[in-house]
Amino acid sequence: MLLEIENITVHYYKVPAIRNISITVEDGEIVALIGSNGAGKTTTLRAISGLKHPTTGEIRFKGQRIDKLPPYKINALGIAMVPEGRRVFPQMTVLENLLMGAFLRNDKEEIQKNLEDVVFRHFPRLKERKNQDAGTLSGGEQQMLAMGRALMSAPKLLLMDEPSLGLSPIMCGEIAKIIRNIHIEGKTVILVEQNARLALALSRHAYVIETGGIALSGPAKDLRNNDDVKKSYLGG
Ligand SMILES: Nc1ncnc2c1ncn2[C@@H]1O[C@H](COP(=O)(O)OP(=O)(O)OP(=O)(O)O)[C@@H](O)[C@H]1O
Ligand SMILES: [Mg+2]
Repeated sequence: MLLEIENITVHYYKVPAIRNISITVEDGEIVALIGSNGAGKTTTLRAISGLKHPTTGEIRFKGQRIDKLPPYKINALGIAMVPEGRRVFPQMTVLENLLMGAFLRNDKEEIQKNLEDVVFRHFPRLKERKNQDAGTLSGGEQQMLAMGRALMSAPKLLLMDEPSLGLSPIMCGEIAKIIRNIHIEGKTVILVEQNARLALALSRHAYVIETGGIALSGPAKDLRNNDDVKKSYLGG
């Protein structure tokens, strides 16, 4: 197992946002987390990336406990987050934003190679616009930038929070294709999506999160045919 989340509970102040969540992710797979607003999807990703420490439970990455580590150490171990709402730095250029993703790395040559061979190859549009201010990019381009920035730390595991949110169907399709390509080249992905159809099409295993707990989990193809999932998340 690449990532093992065992029975974690995360509180905001005294209120638990997620309770006793367990998730396992195998090396090289795409795992989807679906669920409605406020279910606890982002909180789960924040716990993995160290932005919010669980109050109970354990998270292990390649067998090593990470649930008490600060975010930069977790990033250095090979986990990168593509945050909800993209969170690009609007006054910085595309290139400056991308280099921020590599701030923990020292080898200039490796960083340059990663930029050209990984990021600009998957996102030629970012190369064309590398000197443009990130705030002037379209929504889809900002999503590409957020993904490119995460890839600049050369992660093993990518956490993607709602990459399709607010994008046109065509742009959603484009982003989905890129996620698939990145995955084929060896990245493991946890994909949080309200677009359950998209998430279940991309993933091998999926978890349905409801009110802070796991309501259902299994192979994505089983969930696609599950009546409750169809009714609640796939529009009947
Ligand atoms: N910083 C915070 N302080 C207090 N409560 C929070 C905070 N962040 C999230 N919560 C609460 O935790 C619960 C889970 O929120 P979370 O953002 O994880 O949901 P989500 O599944 O990502 O929802 P969405 O689909 O709307 O993004 C919600 O009840 C939310 O109000
Ligand atoms: Mg969220």
